[in-house]
Amino acid sequence: MPPLMIPLNDGRQIPWLGLGTVTTLLRQDASKLVANANTHGIIHLDTAQLYENKESIGAGIALAGRPREELFVTTKIADLPEGKTVRESFMESLARLRGLALVPHSEPFTERKTQGATMPLLEFLKQHDILATSYGGLIPLTKQHGGPIEPVLASNRQRLEKETGQQFTSVSGLINRGHQQQADRPTFAFRTSSKLERVKEYIATESLPDLTQEEMDVIFVTGSKHHFRRYARWIDD
Ligand SMILES: NC(=O)c1ccc[n+]([C@@H]2O[C@H](COP(=O)([O-])OP(=O)(O)OC[C@H]3O[C@@H](n4cnc5c(N)ncnc54)[C@H](OP(=O)(O)O)[C@@H]3O)[C@@H](O)[C@H]2O)c1
Repeated sequence: MPPLMIPLNDGRQIPWLGLGTVTTLLRQDASKLVANANTHGIIHLDTAQLYENKESIGAGIALAGRPREELFVTTKIADLPEGKTVRESFMESLARLRGLALVPHSEPFTERKTQGATMPLLEFLKQHDILATSYGGLIPLTKQHGGPIEPVLASNRQRLEKETGQQFTSVSGLINRGHQQQADRPTFAFRTSSKLERVKEYIATESLPDLTQEEMDVIFVTGSKHHFRRYARWIDD
């Protein structure tokens, strides 16, 4: 299956998967991982001024050598110093990234609108033709354990392994697969890892067999029962 591409309002298409550049890469040299990810087909990168690693991301992109018009790079503005405009701040980021095009990120907007109600937010975005980005989606599998989703995914994994004769190294692949199948509410997924093997695994989910609609529904309903919130904890207050 080719990578799921999500249409943008300007007619271009953006891949569902983007490489996150914080988590293990905060203030770190991200050049090697970015270059490897780019080389292996990840052309969508999520960056932010707060991550303080833009130069190394620019270096990684240069190292991989993909044509700049192929790439999508998101950035987020940190606090604006007095007297500086949003445009000037973006241009600084652009320079650090060695002149790549930027797709502005609407995080402050989406977070303000969230107010603890995920579905209304998604409906709001849909109504206004705004795409959402997703991060932290693997937390119930990677950073927190014992939630209701784990047995569900284990059973899906068993079904797929039996039917295909293939072994899946990680159930997180199933979440990624499900993400791609949500054609009615497409979101970009940002995933990260300090390890190229995992980045390849993220890409490989594109060739996993489809989950059934019933499996998708159970994942959605079960996953909604317990939120392991790592970011934006104020939502639960
Ligand atoms: N806008 C915002 O406020 C915001 C906030 C947070 C994140 N983000 C963006 O979203 C990106 C992704 O963030 P995330 O928190 O969602 O990261 P993630 O993709 O869930 O990865 C987090 C960590 O989980 C580990 N991991 C990944 N797959 C695993 C597996 N199968 N088993 C065990 N561990 C696994 C990785 O460790 P290893 O390094 O050991 O592989 C990685 O460091 C960030 O880099 C950033 O670009 C944006």
